[in-house]
Amino acid sequence: MEMNIALLPGDGIGPEVVAQAVKVVKAVGQKFGHKITFKEGLVGACAIDATGDPYPDATHEICAASDAVLFGAIGDPKYDNDPKAKVRPEQGLLRMRQKLGLFANVRPTFTFPSLVHKSPLKLDRVEGVDFVFFRELTGGVYFGEPRGRNEQGTKAFDTNVYSKEEIVRLARMGFEAAQKRRKLLTCVDKANVMATSRLWRETVQELANEYPDVKVEYEFVDAVAMRLIQWPKAYDVLITENLFGDILTDEASVISGSMGLMPSASLGSNVKLFEAIHGSYPQAAGKDIANPLATVLSAAMMFDYAFDLKEEAEAITGVVNLSLAEGVVTEDIAEGGKSYKTSEVGDWLASKVIKAY
Ligand code: IPM
Ligand code: MN
Repeated sequence: MEMNIALLPGDGIGPEVVAQAVKVVKAVGQKFGHKITFKEGLVGACAIDATGDPYPDATHEICAASDAVLFGAIGDPKYDNDPKAKVRPEQGLLRMRQKLGLFANVRPTFTFPSLVHKSPLKLDRVEGVDFVFFRELTGGVYFGEPRGRNEQGTKAFDTNVYSKEEIVRLARMGFEAAQKRRKLLTCVDKANVMATSRLWRETVQELANEYPDVKVEYEFVDAVAMRLIQWPKAYDVLITENLFGDILTDEASVISGSMGLMPSASLGSNVKLFEAIHGSYPQAAGKDIANPLATVLSAAMMFDYAFDLKEEAEAITGVVNLSLAEGVVTEDIAEGGKSYKTSEVGDWLASKVIKAY
């Protein structure tokens, strides 16, 4: 197969972890006979520094012309500490999602047998956890208008807004995913307080008739925040709006034992985007110590979701499991044993793809 992949390394540790994923993707291409072309673009703080724009048109053109985007991370502390900055790296990410039509963010939480003991939860709670969030990504309070301040600057407001159509297209993805999994869908909302949430619940209730094989549960977001810690095995597929999904998926991402491990996919149009859930971790940038596994696993999701190549995806998850089992890992999960540099982990994974599959 021919594949055009846009690479957006971004800020902080983004370039280092993307470089490792590229090694692994190239190895998969070589092993399975795919012709893979990469084109690189700027996004985030590095794009602001170079062009003044966190998502330059040139980058959008590269993404729009690609089959899939492999994205590193964005963010820079110099903007976090300056709430009045006019241009922010995060705007690049939001504009990219909107312009590429990526309305669904798929964020799985699963466990690795060799890491479950590092989970902040007790073993019996975490062993075998396997659920996936479908977070709405281009609507809600992230994009709603009006937003801003009153004239005196003493009041600020954001608008949470959802159309039925936006809810339906996200919910359908959740229902379809549930049909292929354990057939349980949880609609996460705040329907006891918010009008948008009541529209979510009503819309999902209507849709449920079309998916009689899927059991649907409705839970308030605050209860889900609690139950994710208490009994995460209760969940299979969860659907929710943008802001709730942002918060809950960070919570969910640490259940498995390391923040550096969970991948994600953003879907909705012909171009699909793949990125780790973790952020840009600026303190580690350039030190060759960042954990590349989440970005490598995002590349596995890319083969699966963007190209429907399951065997290639499994080749990558297979070598990641092997690296965990054999302790070829970065210092964050090395547990006092020998640890490896980011680049060494990438080299090892790529060589194992070539050898083992
Ligand atoms: C995420 C991030 C972004 C979000 C930020 C960087 C704008 O936290 O992808 O979850 O809030 O969506
Ligand atoms: Mn987030």
